[in-house]
Amino acid sequence: MKTKILPITDESIEKAKEILLSGGLVGIPTETVYGLGANGLNSNAVKEIFSVKGRPSDNPLIAHVHKNYDLSKICVIEQDYVYKLQKAFLPGPLTMVYKSNGAVCAEALANGDTVAVRIPSHKGCQQLLESVNLPIVAPSANVSKHVSPVTAEHVYNDLNGKISLILDGGKSQGGIESTVLDVTGKVPRILRAGLITYEMIKEVVGACEYAEHKETDKVKSPGVKYSHYKPKCQTARFDKKDIDKAINLYEEYISQGKTPYFICEESIAKLLNGKNVLSLGKTPNEVASNLYLKLREGEEIADVLIAVTERKTGGVYDGIFNRLDKAFYE
Ligand code: TXA
Ligand code: MG
Repeated sequence: MKTKILPITDESIEKAKEILLSGGLVGIPTETVYGLGANGLNSNAVKEIFSVKGRPSDNPLIAHVHKNYDLSKICVIEQDYVYKLQKAFLPGPLTMVYKSNGAVCAEALANGDTVAVRIPSHKGCQQLLESVNLPIVAPSANVSKHVSPVTAEHVYNDLNGKISLILDGGKSQGGIESTVLDVTGKVPRILRAGLITYEMIKEVVGACEYAEHKETDKVKSPGVKYSHYKPKCQTARFDKKDIDKAINLYEEYISQGKTPYFICEESIAKLLNGKNVLSLGKTPNEVASNLYLKLREGEEIADVLIAVTERKTGGVYDGIFNRLDKAFYE
């Protein structure tokens, strides 16, 4: 199969719609990362997503819908605070997990009784979702475990030959996946941290908690148990206080004729003058936006990526360190 990348136009949206309606897969841009989309009502199309990605079948998918979509077609809203969250953050990088009404196919839900729903803000994505007028289930469009894609080219590098079309909607500005929030209980519960933060949700609802991912959890998020976001090259990680050790390792690689790169925030990059450095930027939103871009760039040019990090918590940092820990430790 030949894989085409097309910019977003009325014609390419029409082409993508045809593919989706006939049970095929399309690479789609969103404001967080690129997705691998299929019609969420078509079991065979959904099975194809799992097979193309090499994704374990017990890890459910997010259903993406346009901003005027009637959610009662796919889920049941049980808690009133949901309306406040919708008003404050949607369309945007917040996925909410509701009780399913059974419309989205069982394969997409990994046979569970809940459905994760997301209304992306990306304009081209909205245009496609409106034109299709169906729940489009889409995991990140990477091969399972690899770094999530934030450009059409990243999707191409992972899925070339396996899908016929990727819509190019530019670099995903957000840069890390949506916040996944369980809204089936009295208090909203974060299953995966992202750009809509604990603090932002708490401000709107008055309460919020982080899931501990215990066996007894009513709503589970199987995605969190898998290893993720792995660059293809070797990796190492040091805390900022051990920067001397990081530099020793770097020099060791240089003396072996290899190409090491550091990956770190700008404040740390300044301490590594004259060395190969991929800087993630200054603010937490910049770091999130650059993270996968730089990991993907790094794996192409480096023999080893050496992350030097200073752990921070709160706000967007919760999402950033969740990804960094998976890319560099597990
Ligand atoms: O930003 C995003 O969310 C991107 C773009 C493409 O929208 N999508 C994405 O999908 O990151 P994926 O499949 O890579 O991650 C979905 C996460 C997984 O951790 C999965 O376990 C969780 O959401 N999830 C999906 N449905 C769920 C459900 N019904 N209950 C609990 N967790 C769910
Ligand atoms: Mg993913």
